[in-house]
Amino acid sequence: MKVLGICGSPKQEGSTTLFGLKKALEKVSEHGIDTEIIELGKFKIAGCDACGDCKKTGYCSINDDFSSKLFNILDDPEVKGFVFASPVYFGGMTSQMKALLDRCVVFRRRGFNWENKVAGVLTIGNSRNGGQELAAMNLIASLMIHGMVIVPDSSPSSHFGGILHAGHPGGVECDDMGIQTSQNLGFKVGEITKKLHS
Ligand SMILES: Cc1cc2nc3c(=O)[nH]c(=O)nc-3n(C[C@H](O)[C@H](O)[C@H](O)COP(=O)(O)O)c2cc1C
Repeated sequence: MKVLGICGSPKQEGSTTLFGLKKALEKVSEHGIDTEIIELGKFKIAGCDACGDCKKTGYCSINDDFSSKLFNILDDPEVKGFVFASPVYFGGMTSQMKALLDRCVVFRRRGFNWENKVAGVLTIGNSRNGGQELAAMNLIASLMIHGMVIVPDSSPSSHFGGILHAGHPGGVECDDMGIQTSQNLGFKVGEITKKLHS
């Protein structure tokens, strides 16, 4: 059983989103579940071109990193849960995350491969109220369309997932409340993944 963490930052290093995602996945591991991180900044993923081929073949016909490197990881039956983590860009997710999620329509069209897999979301913005919740809800909407089981961060924070403030005066490392929501998210993703898929 594995939980995949997807980091939607375009950065190859120094990503604050990756910092928060790691905090979440540390808590997933406490449930004895393996974790793996995909950093989208290290891959080239084109947007969906609506060719419709995946409806007929069950595969994406765009020849890029999504098809050659990520498809098999995302389609691995051992993966029972996900944490989707994105920086806030203009109140929404990054284009890298959006491209990935649009391309993942192939898993819906193969017969709802992601149905009942567990998913939690984490967002981070430079402003304290920079659209983190809006971006989180936007991520959640995409995941519901796969029939995934969306979970919040666990109590007592229990809201929309990991919500972080990169512009904290001490840096994201000092955003104690954001770190707590990320850890609580990871805990809940691990807890529900285990309950549903053991
Ligand atoms: C194009 C662009 C748009 C952004 N829009 C927002 C925004 O709407 N709200 C916000 O709080 N931060 C915004 N930011 C700041 C990032 O969300 C913030 O720096 C985040 O920590 C970056 O994550 P990363 O270090 O993982 O790449 C934006 C940054 C960029 C480059």
